[in-house]
Amino acid sequence: MTEPQHEDRPHLPGPSLYPIGFAAGVACILVGLIVNPTLIAPIGAAIAIVFGFLWARDATMDYRREPEPIEPERREAPLTAPPIPADRGEAAMPAPEPGERFPRSRFLEASTLGLGAVIGGLVTVPVVGFMVVPAFKGQGYPDVDLGPLDNFPEGKWLITTFYMHPEAGNVSRRTAYIRNNGQLNGEPSFTIISNRCAHLGCPVQPNGPVQPGDKKQVTPGEKGQKVTLVPTIPAGGFGCPCHGGQYDPEGNRTAGPPVRALDRYQYAVVNGHLVLGKPFSVAHVDGEGKNAKIHAYKLAGPGQHIDGWEQILYPIQPPH
Ligand code: FES
Repeated sequence: MTEPQHEDRPHLPGPSLYPIGFAAGVACILVGLIVNPTLIAPIGAAIAIVFGFLWARDATMDYRREPEPIEPERREAPLTAPPIPADRGEAAMPAPEPGERFPRSRFLEASTLGLGAVIGGLVTVPVVGFMVVPAFKGQGYPDVDLGPLDNFPEGKWLITTFYMHPEAGNVSRRTAYIRNNGQLNGEPSFTIISNRCAHLGCPVQPNGPVQPGDKKQVTPGEKGQKVTLVPTIPAGGFGCPCHGGQYDPEGNRTAGPPVRALDRYQYAVVNGHLVLGKPFSVAHVDGEGKNAKIHAYKLAGPGQHIDGWEQILYPIQPPH
């Protein structure tokens, strides 16, 4: 046995730092998307692109090099006659006609495809059905009667708890922070902010005292659903206990990971009652109270950007 010569060993590429730089860029993007999407994420993207390019260039260097001319291999002509192919000679099977297939091949092909289709259907149809169909059933936002306007004193915030679908019980329980802003152009004006955090959907809390002793429960509307009103003074805005997201009293994000302001609800005054309508998303609010200018968008899920370049990352909105 002879030792392999140096030329016989496979050529392996030398170690490179480019993959590490690329991985660092990707890590920087991921961290940036959470911490600071407008500064750190683009820096991470630039690092990943530069190192990715260098890595790809390094890895393909051998392919781009001019091939060295190879001398054709020469062998002595064999002394014996070449072997006879299996489809030649007296014992050979007759060659099939063009397009001819044997019954067993057809049977195997059909049974394999058929069995695969049946198994695929059995696995995917129930899963897709259970996952997708409920999202499109009964997801509407009915009008909710919150009771007479007298229950909402001007300038006071009320933690208002109600049932979106009373027949569904506690799973449809929702909370909104409501403030009566007084009259605007002869009509009552309200600020109605959802308590769903714009980061991942945890319930935000008022940054200020809550007065449960002054709690009031009303049962307006024909369905007799309960509405609970608890006064609060969110002088410091609202805070999320999950990851520290902070909002000012108008719901604008002031700190933490949320990507936009808190959602709000449409409302109407019907027969002297405050009636809650559909929720909608808010990029930010200029001004405050009845003079606030709300930059409103269609309702988006928690964590979804609704303005700026990041909105292109969410081309399809699943039902909420
Ligand atoms: S869910 Fe509110 S900060 Fe994360």
